[in-house]
Amino acid sequence: MIKKGNLYYPSKDFQKKAIINNPSIYKKAERNPVKFWEDLAKELFWFKKWKKGFVHNPPYFEWFKGGKINITSNIFENNPLGFDKIKNKAALIWEPEPIEERPRILTYYELFREVNRLANGLKDLGVKKGDRVGIYLPMIPEAIISMLACARIGAVHAVVFSAFSPHALQVRLQDTQAKVLITADGYYRRGKIIDLKKNADRGTKNTKVKKVIVVNRTDDKAYPVKWNKGKDIWYEDLTKNQKDYCKPEIMDSEDIFFILYTSGSTGKPKGCIHTCGGYTVQAKFTAKWIFDLKQDDIFWSTADLGWVTGHTYSCYGPLLNGTTFIMFEGAPNWPVPDRWGQIIEKYGVTTFYTAPTAIRMFQKYGTDLLKKYKFETLQILGSVGEPIDEAAWKWYFKEIGKNKCPLVDTWWQTETGGILITCLPGIGPFKPSFTGLPFPGIKFEILNKKGEKCKTGEHGNLIMLPPFCPGLLRGVYKNPKKYLDTYWKEYGKEIYFTSDGALKDKNGLIRIIGRIDDVIKVAGHRVTTGELESAITKLHFITECAVIGIPDEIRGEIPVVFIISKNKIKDIEKQVISQIRKEIGPIALPKKIYSVSDLPKTRSGKIMRRILKKLFSKEPLGDLSTLANPETVEQIKKVIIDK
Ligand code: WT7
Repeated sequence: MIKKGNLYYPSKDFQKKAIINNPSIYKKAERNPVKFWEDLAKELFWFKKWKKGFVHNPPYFEWFKGGKINITSNIFENNPLGFDKIKNKAALIWEPEPIEERPRILTYYELFREVNRLANGLKDLGVKKGDRVGIYLPMIPEAIISMLACARIGAVHAVVFSAFSPHALQVRLQDTQAKVLITADGYYRRGKIIDLKKNADRGTKNTKVKKVIVVNRTDDKAYPVKWNKGKDIWYEDLTKNQKDYCKPEIMDSEDIFFILYTSGSTGKPKGCIHTCGGYTVQAKFTAKWIFDLKQDDIFWSTADLGWVTGHTYSCYGPLLNGTTFIMFEGAPNWPVPDRWGQIIEKYGVTTFYTAPTAIRMFQKYGTDLLKKYKFETLQILGSVGEPIDEAAWKWYFKEIGKNKCPLVDTWWQTETGGILITCLPGIGPFKPSFTGLPFPGIKFEILNKKGEKCKTGEHGNLIMLPPFCPGLLRGVYKNPKKYLDTYWKEYGKEIYFTSDGALKDKNGLIRIIGRIDDVIKVAGHRVTTGELESAITKLHFITECAVIGIPDEIRGEIPVVFIISKNKIKDIEKQVISQIRKEIGPIALPKKIYSVSDLPKTRSGKIMRRILKKLFSKEPLGDLSTLANPETVEQIKKVIIDK
């Protein structure tokens, strides 16, 4: 890498070999973004070409209207790379958590047959195009096979993170009305076997799920699986006698491809709707250009399939590019803190894509641990999910990338389907704590409250202008109002509101400041204060509650909870914790819980979380004149100090 001032550029050698290395691409895309995306879309296989690239009826829009496509045909039999060329190459290398267990490698051809068998199995169970299928699986190859099998037959998958609670699963299954769920008996996590089937059984209660397909991951090693006759079916039994070819369903470009839930401001999560054509185009080319994917690459995105990063870059993106990629079942620091480093070396990973929370954790273990690693195979590093501060950026760049790898800090959202802001590795520039330039063809602006463009360096709201991106969500499942209110209200129906605060430097590089709504990013995962509060106030003895996000060294942000209870309750903290575990899952557990007698409120009764935040961090409180009950401030201060 070449350093000029505080900017880093790829070396001449890197630049020469990069797929995209000419900055003129930005100008070209800007002149006609629709044509730019259409030209890319033409490289894919379509059963029928689209009639119109982009159709806009604000706030609704369509991409590649009239086009017919199936993502699995583009991965397998009609892969534009030529299926014969990639057939017998490893698609996915699966590294199990137990060190002594053998990895599993699936070639493109093997994966193709597995996908077809399960697709036929799903059809046998009566799953049809447009039906929703829940997927509640750990990081095992069957999770990818399941997603692809749904895609093959045009069923809409709704993947639910395996560490989510039964309640979180249930809410999602109820919302999608899925009739089939694919899960596993259990999985390994930090040396323990987690009873996933038990959670799945609880989560399918009071839902429309009629059939539960169960992958045998643990062979009854920890406990016997409770079997519901007539409802449960082993994955193995469903697929073993199936034909290994299933005709791909011909999907309209705008048909629903998948639904993925993300936190909403109320207790109910939002089901982001992604469509077949646009998502496929964006997944393929953002993966290819941003990670400079070439045929000899070994790509590792550490994200779980339960998140959008898992969908686009731990599954569809690499597959569409005929790339070999790593899937790891366990935690990156188990059973040794440098397990992730071992994996990079073991498989010769060339591109490593992870989250700042993981980077900070690696950093904390110290550089001694890394002495034995040269990481010679690494060529590109990536970061995603939350702002990466300058110190973590520099550490990642130096200690893992050995000062030679472009570091792409990628900004995007569950809603956008794929990466939208980052510099391209063959062009640059890279600047610590700045995520970079919008992807070619994408128009971002930073606006102030009045809707005027912010000046260089000025904080404002990050928004996206038409034609947006092909992969942007088309709606919130069964909640059109939420779609309008969340994304198309702040600045009108033609401006997509991201809910992020940002600024631009003089080079046009964008720096993300953070969310401006009530979302907190815990270890990169999106949690809203509202959903935590509504989970906690379900406890009958809690009359009121407020949640704030406070900075955390490793996890980025972490919730802190304030509760008011009717009377003194024994083990109240334990109960709050188990309630959060039950309703959401372990990702959202708070750092501290304070029992208080009142919460700071405005005259209209709105809780002022801003004040709680300042009280917690012992910052000056500023103007308190809008408070209806200023006396609470001293009381809460005391509770915080006493604890
Ligand atoms: C929010 C979206 C993107 C897939 C994983 C998260 C924050 C995301 C960055 C980044 C600073 C980032 C934003 C965004 N975010 N990437 N590189 N730098 N902030 O998807 O859970 O939908 O969260 O994550 O606040 O709005 P998500």
